[in-house]
Amino acid sequence: MSNHPQPHATERFVKDGVVVSRDAYVVRGTDRGLTVGMSAFETLRTYAGRLFRLGEHLARLEGSVNTLGLPWPGAAVVTADLETAAAGLAPELGVRILITPETRLVHASPLDLSLVEKPLRVATRVWEPAPWLDGRVKHGSRAPSEVARQRAEVDEVFWVGRDGVMTEATRSSIFAVIDGRLVTPPDDGRILPGVTRSALIDTARELGLEVIERGISPREAMNELYASSTLKELSPVVELDGNPAPGGGPVGRRLLLAFRALVVRECSG
Ligand SMILES: Cc1ncc(COP(=O)(O)O)c(C=O)c1O
Repeated sequence: MSNHPQPHATERFVKDGVVVSRDAYVVRGTDRGLTVGMSAFETLRTYAGRLFRLGEHLARLEGSVNTLGLPWPGAAVVTADLETAAAGLAPELGVRILITPETRLVHASPLDLSLVEKPLRVATRVWEPAPWLDGRVKHGSRAPSEVARQRAEVDEVFWVGRDGVMTEATRSSIFAVIDGRLVTPPDDGRILPGVTRSALIDTARELGLEVIERGISPREAMNELYASSTLKELSPVVELDGNPAPGGGPVGRRLLLAFRALVVRECSG
């Protein structure tokens, strides 16, 4: 297939820089990205047709690729793939890139709006990443996370470190409001430094909110509790380990509105 966008397409598949059909959007059975999970990925989204914080996603992807020892195609090539995938589709998309030892895959698809601000049921589980493949690497060996969520029958699992504090979630960063301050676990090697997390921290500081980076005990008194990510923005946690959790509140609401204003500033013009 060619790089000419199809009219009326709602999603697009790009493999090694070329627009392909869904059927051709495949990895080989021998690809170690498939056989042993040696892959790196990023999930981005567009607002008003622009990729939000592309530079941060590229830097994180390059770091993941380097740690895994995968081939790094270069920021220009990755950017071209992402832009080819998103061009001419809806203004708000989810755009996912996957890099394996053998191939580069990008899929742009309509945003799943049901994920944005969805009230979440969460369970905690004890787990820490291995020191040689720390939380900063966004790799495809996701079975521990997937099975944890499946078994707990929840929307998200919040990981608790050996020190008893929550660090991050299987596909989100954690935020709480405690005594009027915004609290989020630190980038100490146990978490993926979320792009949304850093944008929310920027936003909070602009609002004059005090931001504290520290672990949060699941048993601590909290006024509001959230999970954040590219696709969910800031979603309230309404249940934690089978008990009611504080969910959303005025600080998170203000933060989310200001975050959206920041997005408009960064993605317009
Ligand atoms: C483990 C983990 N932490 C945090 C996040 C949130 O990161 P971002 O805000 O960049 O989407 C994700 C996103 O998928 C994730 O997988």
